[in-house]
Amino acid sequence: MGSHKIISEDLEEISNEIRDISHKLNGETIFIAGGAGFLGKYLVSTLDYLNKNSLEKPCKVIVADNFITGLERKIEENENISVIKQDISKEFILEGDVDYIIHAASLASPKFYNKFRLETINAGFLGTRNLLEIAKEKNVKNFLFFSSSEVYGDPDSKFIPTPEEYRGNVSCNGPRSCYDEPKRIGETLCVNYGDIHNIPIKIVRPFNVYGPGMRLDDGRVIPNFVSSAINGEKITMYGDGDQTRTFCYISDATSGWIKALLSSESERIFNIGNDDQEIKMKHLGDLVLGLVGNKNSSVEYKEDKMGVYGNKSDPSRRCPDLTKSRNILHYNPKVNLVFGIKRFIKWAEDEILVNKK
Ligand SMILES: NC(=O)c1ccc[n+]([C@@H]2O[C@H](COP(=O)([O-])OP(=O)(O)OC[C@H]3O[C@@H](n4cnc5c(N)ncnc54)[C@H](O)[C@@H]3O)[C@@H](O)[C@H]2O)c1
Repeated sequence: MGSHKIISEDLEEISNEIRDISHKLNGETIFIAGGAGFLGKYLVSTLDYLNKNSLEKPCKVIVADNFITGLERKIEENENISVIKQDISKEFILEGDVDYIIHAASLASPKFYNKFRLETINAGFLGTRNLLEIAKEKNVKNFLFFSSSEVYGDPDSKFIPTPEEYRGNVSCNGPRSCYDEPKRIGETLCVNYGDIHNIPIKIVRPFNVYGPGMRLDDGRVIPNFVSSAINGEKITMYGDGDQTRTFCYISDATSGWIKALLSSESERIFNIGNDDQEIKMKHLGDLVLGLVGNKNSSVEYKEDKMGVYGNKSDPSRRCPDLTKSRNILHYNPKVNLVFGIKRFIKWAEDEILVNKK
C-alpha cells in the first residue's frame, strides 16, 4: 500500500511526528482487528515503515479481519506482518504473546452499516467483549478501542467544539443507532473491563478522517464527492447541505492513534480530529468541484433513502475540542483542508486510472 508517492510521504511524516515515542514498539507484538480497513491499513503500513526505517528490533503485526468491507488483497504480508481471516464477534483463540491490541473493526460507512446492521452491532458489542477477554489473558500494555465522534450524536450547540466530557445527544433506535450505540457500549465495556481486570485502556473518538486508501465506493462524503467529480458525474448533496463537519487528514490522525496507543498517562479517552475549518457540506461540494476542475460535474440535491444523511438524524454540526489530546498526547493536526483534499484527489485520480486498466 505504501508504494504511492502520496502514501510514502505520509508514512515518513507520521514517523517523524512520533519519533520520540516509536522506540516503545521495538520488538513488540501488535494485534490489529479491522486491519484491512481504511484506518487499519494506514496503521499497518506505518508499522511496516517503522520496521524498515527506524526500529532496532522490528515489531510483529497480526491483522485480523473478516473482510466484510475491507479488501483482502490490499495488505502485503511479510516476515513481520501476518493476516488472519477472523470475525472478531465470534469467540476465538489467539496464540502467543501480544503486547498491544487495537480494535478498529467496524463498518464505518453509513452505506455499509445500513446494509449490515446486525454485523455492525456485533463488531462493536461482541467483538469488543471478545477482544477485551483476550487482552485480560495476554496482560497487554494497552488496549486501543476505536470509538467515534458519533457517541456525541447531534451535540447541543453549547457543546461545539465538543469536549470528551459531553455525554451526547444520541438516538438509541434511529437510522444511525446500529453504529452509534455499539460504540457507546464498546466504550462502556472498555472502561469496566479496564477497572475490574486492570487492563490499560485507551479510547479514541475519530472525527471524520479521510485520505488515500479509502474505498472510493464507500459512500463517505470525501471519497464520494471526489470520485464523482473526477468521473464527471453529479455530486450528490443530501438535504440542504447546511450540515457542517471538520475533516482530519489520515497522517495527522494516524499519529494521534499511535500517541494514544503508546501513552502511559492514566487519561483514557481522546478526541482525534481537526478543529480547524468546520465546513458546510454545500461548501465542501464547491471546494471539491473547484479543485478537481472537471466541467462535466456539478452538485445535485437529493433526499437520502437510507435516512442517515441530510435529515433530522444527521448531526447538524461536528467539531472536536482537542484541548485534552493536545495537552496530554501532544497531538497536533497540521494538514489543512485544501492541502489534504488536493493530496486525496491526486491519489484518487491515480487509483481510478489503475482500476480502469
Ligand atoms: N474513518 C473515520 O473517519 C472514522 C470515524 C469515526 C470512527 N471510526 C472508527 O474507526 C475504526 C476504523 O475505521 P475505518 O474508517 O478504517 O473503517 P472501515 O469500515 O474502512 O474498516 C473497518 C474494517 O473492519 C472490518 N470488520 C468489520 N467487522 C468485522 C468483524 N466482525 N471482524 C473482523 N473485522 C471486521 C472490515 O472488514 C474493515 O476492514 C472503526 O471502528 C470505525 O468505526 C472511523
